[in-house]
Amino acid sequence: MTVKILFILAVNFAFLAVKGNLVNGDRTFSIDYDRDCFVKDGRPFRYISGSIHYSRIHPGYWKDRLVKMYMAGLNTVQIYVPWNFHEAVQRSYDFTGGRDLERFLDLANQTGLLVILRAGPYICAEWEMGGLPAWLLQKPNILLRSSDPDYLQAVSDWLAVLLPKVKPWLYTNQGNIISVQVENEYGSYYACDYGYMRYLRKLFRFFLGDDVPLFTTDGNTDREMTCGSLQGLFATVDFGTDTNVTTAFQRQRRFEPRGPLVNSEFYTGWLDHWGESHAQVDQWKVSRTLLEMLALGANVNMYMFEGGTNFGYWNGADHDTRFRAVVTSYDYDAPLTEAGDPTEKLLLVRDVIKQFRDVPAGPMPLATPKFAYGLVTLRKVGNIASLLTVLSPQGPVKSPHLLTFEEMKQYYGYMLYRTTLPRELLEPTPLISPLNGIHDRAYVSVNGVFQGLLERDTILVMNVSGRQGDTLDLLVENMGRVNFGSKINDRKGLLGSLVLGRDELTDWEIYSLDLDGAIADGWPHSEAPWGLSVQQTEPSAGGPVFYMGTLQPNGLSWDTFLKLRGWSKGQVWINGVNLGRYWPTRGPQQTLYVPGPVLSSTRPNNITVLELEGAPDRPMVRFMDRPQLNSTAGRSEPQGVRRV
Ligand SMILES: *[C@@H]1O[C@H](CO)[C@@H](O)[C@H](O)[C@H]1NC(C)=O
Ligand SMILES: *[C@@H]1O[C@H](CO)[C@@H](O)[C@H](O)[C@H]1NC(C)=O
Ligand SMILES: *[C@@H]1O[C@H](CO)[C@@H](O)[C@H](O)[C@H]1NC(C)=O
Ligand SMILES: *[C@@H]1O[C@H](CO)[C@@H](O)[C@H](O)[C@H]1NC(C)=O
Ligand SMILES: *[C@@H]1O[C@H](CO)[C@@H](O)[C@H](O)[C@H]1NC(C)=O
Repeated sequence: MTVKILFILAVNFAFLAVKGNLVNGDRTFSIDYDRDCFVKDGRPFRYISGSIHYSRIHPGYWKDRLVKMYMAGLNTVQIYVPWNFHEAVQRSYDFTGGRDLERFLDLANQTGLLVILRAGPYICAEWEMGGLPAWLLQKPNILLRSSDPDYLQAVSDWLAVLLPKVKPWLYTNQGNIISVQVENEYGSYYACDYGYMRYLRKLFRFFLGDDVPLFTTDGNTDREMTCGSLQGLFATVDFGTDTNVTTAFQRQRRFEPRGPLVNSEFYTGWLDHWGESHAQVDQWKVSRTLLEMLALGANVNMYMFEGGTNFGYWNGADHDTRFRAVVTSYDYDAPLTEAGDPTEKLLLVRDVIKQFRDVPAGPMPLATPKFAYGLVTLRKVGNIASLLTVLSPQGPVKSPHLLTFEEMKQYYGYMLYRTTLPRELLEPTPLISPLNGIHDRAYVSVNGVFQGLLERDTILVMNVSGRQGDTLDLLVENMGRVNFGSKINDRKGLLGSLVLGRDELTDWEIYSLDLDGAIADGWPHSEAPWGLSVQQTEPSAGGPVFYMGTLQPNGLSWDTFLKLRGWSKGQVWINGVNLGRYWPTRGPQQTLYVPGPVLSSTRPNNITVLELEGAPDRPMVRFMDRPQLNSTAGRSEPQGVRRV
C-alpha cells in the first residue's frame, strides 16, 4: 500500500516536472558558477539596477518614476518590503493603495523592468525600526533578528502572507522577480545567529521553491561577511564611491569564489539627520566608480536611484553616541530627486550605462511640473489639551506608573501623559527622567501653559513651577525608532520614571491620540465654519497647538514644496495626508515635498499643522516651486550636543 502510494506520487511528480518545463519554456534565471555570471533564459545576464521604495513615493507617481529609471538604461529595480508598513497592527494586513505591492510589480513589469525583491523581515533602509513592527516590543525581552521563538513565530506568520503573494511574480512563474534577498546586512548585527539565518533560508525555500536565487547583502568587512552569509544564500557586498572596487570584490570572492560579482548597494548619495549638514556625493565620483564596476563585469544596484520621502512617521533613526533621527526627506542626493526629477547625476549615470548596454531611444521624461502656490495664512484651532474629546475619543488609561507607547498599543506619533503637581512649586523645580527615558521628546505644560521641553540624550532636565493639584501635561513625540545597530529595541513614550523635585510622579492618565484618524475624517475643517475671514489670534504662548488653513484651488494639482519659515517643529497634513515632520530650527531640511496628487485642483485644500513649540506671530506657510534641503541657517542646537 505505502509503496504503491509512493509510486503514484513519484509518477505524478515526474509528470508535473515535465509539464512545468513545457509551460516555462526557456524562462529561467539562475547563477552560473562556471561562467561567473547570472544566466537568464540560457544566456549570460547582467543587471544594472536602481533602488526605489514604493513606500516612499506617492502611488500616483510609481509609473512615472519607473519609466524614468527605464529610460536611464536600467534593466532592473531593487525594492524593499517594509513589514511594519503592511502589518502595523498584528495580523491586520494592508496591501491597498500606496501599499499595493502587486500593483507596483505589475507597473515595473509593464515598464520592462525586472525586480530584485528584498523581502526582509528586517530591512534597515533608514525606515522606522528597520521595517520591524513595533508590536514585537510588547514582549519585554524579545531578542529581535534572532532565534527568539516569539520573534520567529511573528516572522513565520508574516512570511506566510508575503511570500505566497510574491511567488506568482517570480521570473520562472512568468513574473519579473529575478532574485530575492534574505534579511539585510545581518553581519552588521551583534547577534550573529546562524540558526536564525538557517530558519529564514528554510522558510524562503518552502514558500518560493528551489529555483529562485536567494542572496544576502553585507557591508564590506570580513566580520560582516562572516556573520551575514550562509551556504545556499549567494553572498553579495555593498559599498560606495570611497571604497576600492577591486578590494571590495576580492572580499566577495573570498566568500563566493565563483558566480557573479554583485554590489547590492552602490551609494549614489547618503541620508540626512536633523541638525547635521545635508549629505551630498559627487556625481563624477559616482559615474567613475560605476564605470569601474561595470567594466569588471559586475552587477550593480544603485542605492538609491530615487530616495523619495519619509511621509507620516516612517523615518528611522540612528543611535551611536546619541539618538539621531532621520529627516523627512529621503532625497538621498540620488540621480532622481525626492520629487522624481532627473538630475545631472542621472545623465552621467546614463552615459556610463550606454557604454555597456543599449539605452532606450527617446528623450528622458521631463520633471513633473512644480508650482509656487504662494502664502497661506493659518489660524489657531486650539492646543492639544483642549481637543482631547476629538483626538482621544476613548479617553485616557489610568495607571499608577508610566506606560510606553507599545504597552498602550499605539505605535506611532504622539501620546499625552497627564498627572497633577503633588505639591506647591513656587520656585522653579527640576523635572528629570533619571534613566534618560524621554523617548524621544516631551513638551511640558502646566494648566495648559507651555513650560518647556525635554529631549532624549540632549535636554535631560527642565524647570517646572505651579500650584499643588495643577494639571501637568507631557505630550510625547515618537521621533522614529532606531533602524540600525544593537539598539533597535527602541520603546517609545516615557520610560522608567519621572521625578519632579523630590517626588516621583505617579497616578497617570495616559491618552492615546489618533491625530491621523481625526484628520483623515475631515477634522478640523469639517467642523469649522466656511468662508470665515481669518481670525486674528493672539500670539501663541507656545506648546503643542493645532493650526488650520486652506489653499484655494486654482485649477492645478502640481507638485509643490511647503516652507514653514518661523515655525519651530511639528507635523503637517494636507487633505488628510500626513506629509511628515518639519523642524526648520534644526535643519538641514527646510521644505516638505507635497506630491501633486495630494492636492485638489477644484476643492479647497485643507492644511493642518501641529506646531509643538511655538508658531510665528503671524502664522503663515508658503508653497514654493523648489525644495530647500541644505540650509543650516537658523539652526539652534541644544547645548552639549556633539555633532557626529
Ligand atoms: C509581464 O509582462 C509581459 C510582457 O512584457 C507579459 O507577457 C507577462 O504576462 C507579464 N507578467 C505578469 C505577471 O503580469
Ligand atoms: C585598489 O586596490 C588595488 C589592489 O590592492 C590597487 O592595485 C589599486 O591601485 C587600487 N585602486 C585605487 C583607485 O586606489
Ligand atoms: C532651574 O531654576 C534654577 C533656579 O532658578 C536655576 O538655577 C537653573 O539654572 C534652572 N535650570 C534650568 C535647566 O533651567
Ligand atoms: C476640505 O474640507 C472641506 C470641509 O470639510 C471639504 O468640503 C473639502 O472637500 C475638503 N477638501 C478636500 C480637497 O478634501
Ligand atoms: C543648496 O541647494 C541649492 C539647490 O538645491 C543650491 O542652489 C545651493 O547652492 C545649495 N546651498 C548650499 C549652502 O549648499
